Amino acid sequence: MEPKPTETTITLRPIGVVRSPHRETSEIPKGPGAKHRAEGTLELRPELEDGLRDIEGFSHLFVLWVFHRSEGFDVVAHVPLDDRRPHGVFSSRSPRRPNPIGLSVVELLGREGPVLRVRGLDMLDGTPILDIKPYLSSIPSEKLRRGWVEEAEARKRR
Ligand SMILES: C[S@@+](CC[C@H](N)C(=O)[O-])C[C@H]1O[C@@H](n2cnc3c(N)ncnc32)[C@H](O)[C@@H]1O
Repeated sequence: MEPKPTETTITLRPIGVVRSPHRETSEIPKGPGAKHRAEGTLELRPELEDGLRDIEGFSHLFVLWVFHRSEGFDVVAHVPLDDRRPHGVFSSRSPRRPNPIGLSVVELLGREGPVLRVRGLDMLDGTPILDIKPYLSSIPSEKLRRGWVEEAEARKRR
């Protein structure tokens, strides 16, 4: 009998690795107004280079990656953006998640073969990359709601 989907284990092989100037989590900007300007590279396995064909046409990319230096998870998370109250892990970007998957949007600066030069890294050097996709947003800004993040940012501005 097929196992229930929520009881299976999925094994993924990273497509590459992040080369970032951040060696420790303390070096990565956090909290309200944090800006991610760090530049580095996304280095793909050489045999996957053809998968980058036509990527130069996109200004920004989604990068899916693994919080490989994170252990365990909290269903309810205390986050640097809001020191007043905790939030559900799925309402947050906490690294301590049941499946430690990170999602970042980076600016594509250039490409040399299987290596992408990017800006906007918020991950550590050596972070395994699971996938890369072009960033396309079709949601008009007036339709976007930012939940508790908006409230926390407004409080800090006051
Ligand atoms: C708040 S998370 C957000 C990451 C991503 N933008 C997301 O939304 O999934 C970013 C933090 O994760 C931590 N971090 C970055 N790379 C990591 C890694 N490879 N393993 C564990 N923690 C990491 C750092 O503390 C960093 O400030």
